[in-house]
Amino acid sequence: MNLTDKTILSGITPSGRLHLGNYFGAMRQHLQMHKEGDAFYFIANYHSLTALADGEQVRENSLHIALDYLALGLDPDRSTFFLQSDVPQVTELAWILGTQCPVSLMEKGVAYKDKVASGLSPNIGLFTYPILQAADILIYDSDLVPVGADQKQNLEICRDLAGKLNRVYGDELLKLPEPWIVKEVAVVPGLDGRKMSKSYDNTIGIFEEGKALKKRVMAIETDSTPLEEPKDPESCNVFALIRLFAEEDELKEIADNYRNGGYGYGDAKKDLLAMINRTFAEARERRKELAKHPDDVMDILRQGGRKARFRAEMVMERVRSATGILSTMKRDS
Ligand code: ADP
Ligand code: TRP
Repeated sequence: MNLTDKTILSGITPSGRLHLGNYFGAMRQHLQMHKEGDAFYFIANYHSLTALADGEQVRENSLHIALDYLALGLDPDRSTFFLQSDVPQVTELAWILGTQCPVSLMEKGVAYKDKVASGLSPNIGLFTYPILQAADILIYDSDLVPVGADQKQNLEICRDLAGKLNRVYGDELLKLPEPWIVKEVAVVPGLDGRKMSKSYDNTIGIFEEGKALKKRVMAIETDSTPLEEPKDPESCNVFALIRLFAEEDELKEIADNYRNGGYGYGDAKKDLLAMINRTFAEARERRKELAKHPDDVMDILRQGGRKARFRAEMVMERVRSATGILSTMKRDS
C-alpha cells in the first residue's frame, strides 16, 4: 500500500520496560511505517493509569518509552511523537463518544472481561478504556492504525463508535480508520514458552545488557536432550527467538546444527545472545546519550504535542459544532 498520504497513528502504553515481544510485535512495524507515511505516535499515559496508580512510576515509564523509541530510530522530524496528555481534545472527544456508546459494547471488552473473570474489581477507566482509545484514533482523522493482534477488538469498537456518531450527527463527522494488524510475528515466546509479557515476568528487555541480559537468555527453558543428540529446532523456545533475529543463511545453519546433534542448548543461547547484542548495540549507545539530555527529549515531545493538538482541534471543532457544544473561547493550539 502507498502510505504517502496516509495518517498513521498508534499509541504505546508506558506500563513498564519494553521487551522483545513489544519490539517484534509492534515497535518494529511502527519504526518502519514512520518512514513512509504521516505518522503520529504517542505515549498513552492516561491509559496507563487504569493499571498503575503511582505518579512517580507513570512519569518515569513515560520518559523511558520516549527514550526507547528515539534510541531505536524514531525520527521526530519525520513523525509526530508526543504525549497523549498534551492533547486535551482527546479526553473531550472520549466523553462525547461515551454518550453514544452502549454499555453492552464495553461489557464485551476482553481486557475488562478477563479482569472480572479473575475476580478483581475493575475500575471505570478500564471499563471505558476502548472509548479513550477510539478518541485517540478519531481525533486525528487517522487512516491506518498499526497494532498487534491483541488490539483488534479495540479497533473494531473504534469503528463501531465512529459509525454510530456518523449516523447520529452526519456521515462526514468522523473518519473510519483501517486496522493494520502486525501479522508476521504472531506471538513472541517468553523464557517459559508462554507469550512474552511483563505480567508473566518472562521477558527479555530490549535495553537489558551485560550480565543481566545473559542471565535472562540462559534462563530460557528447554528440554533436557543431551548436547550430542539431534534436536528439533521447531519445538525449541531458543530457536523461536533466534528466528526473529537471524539472517536466512544463519537460520538455516543453526537449524542444521540442531538436527545434526553436537550443538547444545547452551550453544544456541550463546548464538542468540550475540544476535541480540548485535541488533541493539547501536540503540543502547544512543539511548545512553539521549538519557543525558532529558530536556531535549521533552522538547521533542512538546513540538510533537503542538502539532498533534493543532490537528486535534480541527476535528474537535467539527465535533463540537455537530453536537451543539457551544464554546465561548478559543482553545489554544
Ligand atoms: P505486555 O503483554 O508485556 O503487557 P503490552 O500489552 O503492553 O505488553 O503490549 C504492547 C504491544 O506489544 C501490543 O501491541 C502487543 O501486540 C505487542 N506485544 C506484547 N507482547 C507480545 C508478544 N509476546 N508477542 C507479540 N507481540 C507482543
Ligand atoms: N491499547 C494499546 C496497547 O495496549 C495502546 C493504545 C492506546 C493505542 N491508544 C491507542 C494503540 C490508539 C493504537 C491506537 O497496546
